[in-house]
Amino acid sequence: MANFAKEMKIEKKDILQRKDIKTMVDKFYDKVKSDELLGPVFSHVDWPHHLPTMYNFWSSMLLGDQTYRGNPLQKHLPLPIEKKHFGRWLELFKETVDENFIGEKADEVKMRADTIANVFQYRMGLNA
Ligand code: HEM
Repeated sequence: MANFAKEMKIEKKDILQRKDIKTMVDKFYDKVKSDELLGPVFSHVDWPHHLPTMYNFWSSMLLGDQTYRGNPLQKHLPLPIEKKHFGRWLELFKETVDENFIGEKADEVKMRADTIANVFQYRMGLNA
């Protein structure tokens, strides 16, 4: 029985294709939307527009397809966010990655999120 359960378990894989990026982004924002701290910051967001932007952003980062054009920092400057929001954002992001993926790209995406969050915080005067 234990073996059966083990065989039925879906093995986690790395983030290798755009459909994996989509899974990661969708699951991450599901968490964000229902989060007490982060949810309100996203209340103005037009999801049908934002989600494909985020698929493009992360797939440019991880798969190198150059589908994202934009200036992410600029979008964050006017938001009512503090250090604690970054902490929570990173927590939920890494949790989402770990719950769904394992491997080199999964490690890379968490590292990149950390780096970018640090740059944003520094540029926003939040003392990363
Ligand atoms: C405190 C943490 C964060 C919060 C609360 C937050 C919130 C938001 C919100 C509300 C938007 C939509 C802006 C708009 O179109 O009006 C947005 C866009 C975006 N965010 Fe964040 N964000 C956070 C951290 C990050 C980090 C760490 C990254 C990257 C690793 C990131 C990447 C982006 C990108 C690429 C966009 C799309 C920009 C565009 O439209 O071109 N965000 N974010």
